[in-house]
Order: sequence, then structure tokens, then C-alpha cells
Amino acid sequence: MARFEIVHPLPESCLSVQTKRLLLAVYKPSAAARVTDYLVRNRAFHTPFTQKHSDRYFTVSEQKAYLKSDLYQYRHNSQVGFWISTIEEPDVIIGRLSFYSIIGGAMMTSFVGYHLDEKCQGKGYMLEALQAGCDFMFKYYRLHRIQADVMPTNEKSLRVVQKTGFVKMGYNVRYMEIDGSYKDHVMYVLLNPSVEK
Ligand SMILES: CC(C)(COP(=O)(O)OP(=O)(O)OC[C@H]1O[C@@H](n2cnc3c(N)ncnc32)[C@H](O)[C@@H]1OP(=O)(O)O)[C@@H](O)C(=O)NCCC(=O)NCCS
Repeated sequence: MARFEIVHPLPESCLSVQTKRLLLAVYKPSAAARVTDYLVRNRAFHTPFTQKHSDRYFTVSEQKAYLKSDLYQYRHNSQVGFWISTIEEPDVIIGRLSFYSIIGGAMMTSFVGYHLDEKCQGKGYMLEALQAGCDFMFKYYRLHRIQADVMPTNEKSLRVVQKTGFVKMGYNVRYMEIDGSYKDHVMYVLLNPSVEK
């Protein structure tokens, strides 16, 4: 059985994908208030896992600008930035799943990043979203490879990528700036053999 279905776009979205319990949507800038609400609610929880953001990042006007940029990148096939909600409460954003820096040509690859609402952890939501999101990217973008970079101390995220089938391919020292300093990351990769000739 397919792990996702493309559905009629949710209000303020230009692409909506449904999984067993979730909706993944690429939103227009008009959804900035809901995005901001999610980011503000989770600011302290996300801080140890993301780059440092100023107070301005947590405002509706700034998020409107980010959504505008996301939409531009979506329309130019360089990113698919999903916001996650449950089917039960489609208006409330509970997470983010972003396939970014899509490279075509001989590479057909992208990076993936994600985060969840603190209160929605421990339900398998991110596993469900990541599995469906990767299936979607493999099917509709014909990607051959998706890369996830995870700090070796981030046990929950390591479990999510491993359960999705990502394979450890390397270890990058002082790789990405997280919470104010460059941190080591384990490189995980999911390949799509169905596009190999
Ligand atoms: C990383 C992060 C998304 C993981 O969240 P999570 O809730 O652990 O992951 P899932 O949504 O896939 O849920 C998995 C857990 O739900 C449990 N679960 C409950 N019901 C489940 C179901 N129906 N299906 C699958 N798992 C279920 C699993 O047992 C698992 O718990 P365990 O890891 O203790 O065994 C979250 O901790 C987060 O947002 N962290 C901050 C940002 C971050 O680290 N991002 C990643 C950077 S690389």
C-alpha cells in the first residue's frame, strides 16, 4: 500500500500530501501566522538542534518572507518544504519536513531536514512523514539520493533515519553550525535503486 496520496490542496497551500495520520503541505506566504505560532511554541525545544536565530526570525513578517522564498524554490524545483499537521487538526502546524538543495543532472540528490512539535514526539509522526516524504521525492522528483545529517548525540533523530532505511555513509567533523558552534554530524543516505539503469 502507498504511504502517501496527493490530495486537494489545503487552504493557503499549493501542494498537500496525505499519509495515514498526517497532512504535509507546501504553504503560501499567507500561512505565516500559523508557521510563526509553531516556531514560537517550540523555540526553546528546537534551539539545541538548529542554527541560532534572532528574535526577528520569530515574527510573522519574517516568516512571510521565508515562505515567499520557499515558494519560489518550490516553483523552481530546488526545494520542497512541507509543513506537517494532523488530519484531525489540519490548521495546526506540528512539524516541518524539508527536502532542500535539490540537485538535478547527474546527481539527482537532495538534503532533508525536519523537526516536530515538542508535544507531538513519541507517536511515530516523523517516521511516518519522512517515509512518505522520501517516497514522494523518489516518485515525483525522480531523486536517486537523499542525505540526512544528524548529530551523533541526537538519538531520537538517529532512530528516525535508521527506521526509514537511511544508511550511515560517513562522519563529518565540525560540519554544520548548530546553536552557535560547528558540530560534528553523521551522514546518512537513502538511495533509490528504481531510477538506476
Ligand atoms: C527528531 C525528532 C523529529 C524525533 O521525534 P520522535 O517523536 O522521536 O520521532 P517519531 O515521530 O518518528 O516517533 C518515534 C517514537 O514514537 C514511538 N511510536 C509511538 N507510536 C508509534 C507509531 N504508531 N509508529 C511509529 N512509532 C511510534 C516510537 O516507538 C518512537 O519512540 P522511541 O524512539 O522512543 O522508540 C524530534 O525529537 C525533534 O523534533 N527534535 C528536535 C529537532 C531535531 O532534532 N531535528 C532533527 C535534526 S537532524
